[in-house]
Amino acid sequence: MPPFAEARVDLGAISENIAVLRRHAPASQVMGVVKADGYGHGMLPAARAMLAGGATWLGTAFIEEAMELRRAGIDTRTVAWILPPGAPLTEAIDAGIDLGVSALWLVESITAAARETGRPARVHLKVDTGLNRGGVVGDQWPAVVEAAARAEAAGLLRVAGVFSHFACSDEPGHSSIKAQLSAFHDALEVAERAGLRPEVRHLANSAATLTLPESHFDLVRPGIAGYGLSPIPDLAGTGLRPAMTLRSAIALVKRVPEGGGVSYGHRYVTDRSTTLALVPLGYGDGVPRAATNRAPVFAAGRRRTIAGTVCMDQFVLDLGDDADADTAEAGDYAVLFGAGEGGEPTAQDWASVLDTIPYEIVTRISPRVPRVYVGDW
Ligand SMILES: Cc1ncc(COP(=O)(O)O)c(C=O)c1O
Repeated sequence: MPPFAEARVDLGAISENIAVLRRHAPASQVMGVVKADGYGHGMLPAARAMLAGGATWLGTAFIEEAMELRRAGIDTRTVAWILPPGAPLTEAIDAGIDLGVSALWLVESITAAARETGRPARVHLKVDTGLNRGGVVGDQWPAVVEAAARAEAAGLLRVAGVFSHFACSDEPGHSSIKAQLSAFHDALEVAERAGLRPEVRHLANSAATLTLPESHFDLVRPGIAGYGLSPIPDLAGTGLRPAMTLRSAIALVKRVPEGGGVSYGHRYVTDRSTTLALVPLGYGDGVPRAATNRAPVFAAGRRRTIAGTVCMDQFVLDLGDDADADTAEAGDYAVLFGAGEGGEPTAQDWASVLDTIPYEIVTRISPRVPRVYVGDW
């Protein structure tokens, strides 16, 4: 008996998506980005599927995520790039985790941690080329590079990478893209002049991997595309296949009369006598409450729209009076989103009606929903 509600994750799709991305960037290595529990898909299975597809690096936001990979026996080179004060630097160095460096004080704390550990830390210096989020800003860059070069000469650091991150690569042609590329080249030159010889220079996220070959350098860092979702909604011919299907068996089907208010606040009112289906997934499972009266769900043979307020554990579909609705019964599946191959909506469809991005739709599915892994990889 399968779980009542489940997020089915096709690991074959994840591994094949990485293979597809390798073909988009044939001269570069691929880092599979598995932060935030593999964008909701499950970090460890996603990481293994990405490695099977040809990824040779993994990327996480936090050291704790990278440590979880190590504890599971995954020894692949892994970069963790958000290191707040108090981050477990010595443990990371001991575990051979590469560290993203966004500030001078981090060069100093990582150097101190390396001295304590008795083994050099591998770092990737992150330059802020215009995202104005993480990364070292331009006027600080020479000082960070110099400090890293001194620590490298002292045998405490190895500058394994220099990297940056795009702001608008999901809008091909955006003027910031060229500006960031050019700033990245300048930053690389500064590093080169200081004697740094990084193994990998990296800039491209999924969107740039798919659309901007000049940004590929030695390594590309796709996240969302590995899970089969495009960062650019209308991009055709990517060859990607969405890996996650969110579905649930319907818990209850019943007839109600015309004029009945449905769910909290009666925000939906039946306009005829009709069949309602109760789907036991709600905002406690990561289904956005904003999906109330908006998001599509495939049930009883076609797409329906959620009827009324999404509750903590459940929402309702109005199946109407068509022939398909007549045959619907508790236990039938309702599919919120999937690959889109059987008429079901995709995470992009949900993102479009909810004015968000598919990243948020898949990542927010809560641990209450069992992940069920399928597919050959
Ligand atoms: C530094 C860095 N690289 C790569 C990625 C992957 O981005 P995407 O999922 O758009 O491919 C992220 C995600 O936010 C990131 O922060």
